[in-house]
Amino acid sequence: MEDLAKIFYLAATALFIFGVKDLAKVRTSRRGNGLAALGMLVAVVTTLVAPEGGIQLDWKWVAGGLILGSLLGALLARTIAMTGMPEMVALFNGFGGAASLLVALSVFAGEYLGGDASVPAALTQGLGVDGLGEGAALTWTVAVMLSVLIGAVTLTGSLVAMGKLSGKIPGRPLLLPARHLLTFALLGAAAWFAAQAGWSATHQEAQCALYTLAALAGILGIMVVLPIGGADMPVVVSLLNSYSGLAASMAGFVIGNSLLITAGALVGAAGLILTQLMCRAMNRSLLHVLVGGFGDGDGGGDTSGYENVKSAGPEEAAMVLEAAEKVIFIPGYGMAVAQAQHVVKQLAQELESRNVEIRYAIHPVAGRMPGHMNVLLAEADVPYEQLFEMERINGDFRDTDVAMVIGANDVVNPAAIEDSSSPIAGMPILHAFEARTVLMVKRSLSPGYAGIKNPLFERENCLMCFGDGKEFLAEVLAELKKN
Ligand code: TAP
Repeated sequence: MEDLAKIFYLAATALFIFGVKDLAKVRTSRRGNGLAALGMLVAVVTTLVAPEGGIQLDWKWVAGGLILGSLLGALLARTIAMTGMPEMVALFNGFGGAASLLVALSVFAGEYLGGDASVPAALTQGLGVDGLGEGAALTWTVAVMLSVLIGAVTLTGSLVAMGKLSGKIPGRPLLLPARHLLTFALLGAAAWFAAQAGWSATHQEAQCALYTLAALAGILGIMVVLPIGGADMPVVVSLLNSYSGLAASMAGFVIGNSLLITAGALVGAAGLILTQLMCRAMNRSLLHVLVGGFGDGDGGGDTSGYENVKSAGPEEAAMVLEAAEKVIFIPGYGMAVAQAQHVVKQLAQELESRNVEIRYAIHPVAGRMPGHMNVLLAEADVPYEQLFEMERINGDFRDTDVAMVIGANDVVNPAAIEDSSSPIAGMPILHAFEARTVLMVKRSLSPGYAGIKNPLFERENCLMCFGDGKEFLAEVLAELKKN
């Protein structure tokens, strides 16, 4: 039975790995999601039938959790708006951290590791440790403490990130005085209580120290995320995703389940890679993001004083497009808000029928979550071949008649490359400003997520097309169809 369980665990691990691999491409991402979900089902059922480490499981609780979780997940997935997805991802990360925290707390409560290193041998068997050496006891204790620490940081940090993304907590960085000192003091106190919890003489003292550690870690999570500005939240969410994986991995050590260790490590590594990719897309170091303070309005914050802004109505925009041979669409967050992806596709089809070359330029952090634009355009059946990543298309704007920017702002802001004092200085942008004409579709001169002025609006070749993305493009399409 045990060998069979190992084979099923191996199969589940393979499903996770292939699932993650498939998630890397829009075309295969649905299948990837399905494969990973199947892997999780195999893992849960195997654990129920043949639990590793000889742990006693009450299947009613597990089945109840499985049904409740599936129902809640399905309900949330069906009801959440596309624009609310980043908040939901943040919440899910928080749940992951909470799960690891609760597992560690409950196992510790039941299986107290006293000064005499009395972890049940059953728990350590799952880790391949025969009997209970001091090393195994230490590993187990450290795993419990890390699970509690990382789990609690992930939980509260994710809740703050969710609050910032939804606007319930102000997106601007909240900088407390001496916050770095406070963070280090909290970390030091957490380490002290972790040591107390692991090596207290009595069960009660150890429990008390462990709960204090959980509370301190919870405060730490809040303290770490509050000073980070709203524009950096995607990076933070991705990092917290990595933390939730680490916490799960630690929980795997705690209960002696090898699959949980592997699955957690996969999530941890994937989250870290995504975090790095996003930092690179914004030309910021992770340390710079974590230290916080970005987007507090210093430098380039004056968004009011625009001069010589030229605007165009739908009729004029249609005329500009009619005369073009090469058009690049640049979608941004506003396209998601306006749900303009379908009309963008219709406009593209109309132009293609007039032999206009159509391409879409996708900035890695356009919108509010990784792959946001890809998902929306895929929903509107825009051919994948027309989607170009920033590096592949940036050199082509010079040779483009019209760059039509639909609800994007920061990702086309030339201040990133021209103004070293700008808060987004160094962030790679789409070179829309190099096109012969830029049609900038948005409702007003309001700034984007970074809250800064966009000098592109004042450029000679830029025409502001004021209006809701969907409505404006529908009118342009109607104008084109008149001729
Ligand atoms: P933003 O710079 O946020 O600009 C979006 C623009 O859309 C706004 O200026 C807004 O202007 C316009 N808009 C809003 N509703 C609209 C509607 N119904 N119709 C037409 N336009 C509308 O977007 P972006 O260029 O996509 O840049 C993304 C920003 O978000 C970056 O700063 C990035 O770092 C940050 N961020 C990214 C992510 C990820 S991972 N993608 C996650 C969180 C944050 P009006 O109000 O004038 O219409």
